[in-house]
Amino acid sequence: MQVNLRSPWQIGPVEIPTRVVLAPMAGVSVQAFRRQGRRFGAGLVCSEMVSCAGLEHRNERTLGYLRIASDEHPLAVQIFGSDPATMAEAARMVEAAGADLVDINFGCPVRKVTKTGAGAMCLDEPERAASIVSSVAQAVSVPVSVKMRRGLENGARTCLEVGPRLADAGAQTLTLHPRSAKQMYTGSADHSLTAELVELVDVPVIASGDVTSRARAQAVLATTGAAAVMVGRAAQGNPWAIREILGEGGEPTREEVVAELVLFMRETVRELGERRATSFLKKFYGWYLGRGRFPRVFKQELIELDTLEQVENTLLEAAPGAKFALARLEQEHPQLNEVELDLPISIYGGG
Ligand SMILES: Cc1cc2nc3c(=O)[nH]c(=O)nc-3n(C[C@H](O)[C@H](O)[C@H](O)COP(=O)(O)O)c2cc1C
Repeated sequence: MQVNLRSPWQIGPVEIPTRVVLAPMAGVSVQAFRRQGRRFGAGLVCSEMVSCAGLEHRNERTLGYLRIASDEHPLAVQIFGSDPATMAEAARMVEAAGADLVDINFGCPVRKVTKTGAGAMCLDEPERAASIVSSVAQAVSVPVSVKMRRGLENGARTCLEVGPRLADAGAQTLTLHPRSAKQMYTGSADHSLTAELVELVDVPVIASGDVTSRARAQAVLATTGAAAVMVGRAAQGNPWAIREILGEGGEPTREEVVAELVLFMRETVRELGERRATSFLKKFYGWYLGRGRFPRVFKQELIELDTLEQVENTLLEAAPGAKFALARLEQEHPQLNEVELDLPISIYGGG
């Protein structure tokens, strides 16, 4: 049976308008990325993972991850950590910042995180994982969700043992990326595990991993019974993937690509400041301009430029029509420039 990707669904009281969720990605899921994702039809967007220890210590950069714009909702803010009480306190801050959901990271395979007992490491300690979920669920009134991998080792089926316990502990949604932590991003996501998990729990399941097209999204939803698909790498520098998955529109013109990239750059500068944005944006050039849209050397040329102003001028020279598309975008979405940011930082005083 075909699922209508444009149909709404619920996570507890929160209505999610479409079946496409934009994945949390560290170093990618800035506010500009999330707002663009919503504009292109993602029903739910997620922050990158935020350290509960960083929040506890009021680390200025960590607090910056809690900035939420009024046009991002519904939005999940993801936290990671290993101690139930610290995670509960972090969850309270996330709720106070205005997030619609608190997501808990039990999937991060990176050693820097797992060696502290956080991320995917929690899957091997179901008792502690359940305790984190119940502490967080008791601390906030917004729904709590969990994102996990299949387990630590290749072939692991840990998610099927832990998943139901996490739902019992208060998780109102489970997202499964069915690769092992050891696999990192190699091999492929085994969504037969997603189908098994769906059978075992009463909460909606989100399927994450290798969803790159409408055909793949339909197949994953139909074969797993998941409530929604999550899209990560396919949407990097490519919001058109979301639109394609939703069944609208195909490849963008060069002008559209440049207009979106320039808008993204301007918003990112506003969010991160010129200096941080300059290095942050470099990886996006290849993502936007690749996929056969521009010659490879063009990306290299942009990376080597010193200032973002030079990058913007070079882009607009390469696709002169883009300035009209950009003006149209800014006119159609005036809130992009005017939207107010909630600044929870003031609540927490920074120090
Ligand atoms: C650069 C990058 C950063 C990521 N950071 C996070 C993260 O902070 N939290 C998380 O739960 N998953 C993270 N992921 C995993 C994605 O959310 C997603 O589960 C995974 O990429 C598989 O989906 P995809 O095939 O659509 O990319 C990250 C993935 C990538 C590629």
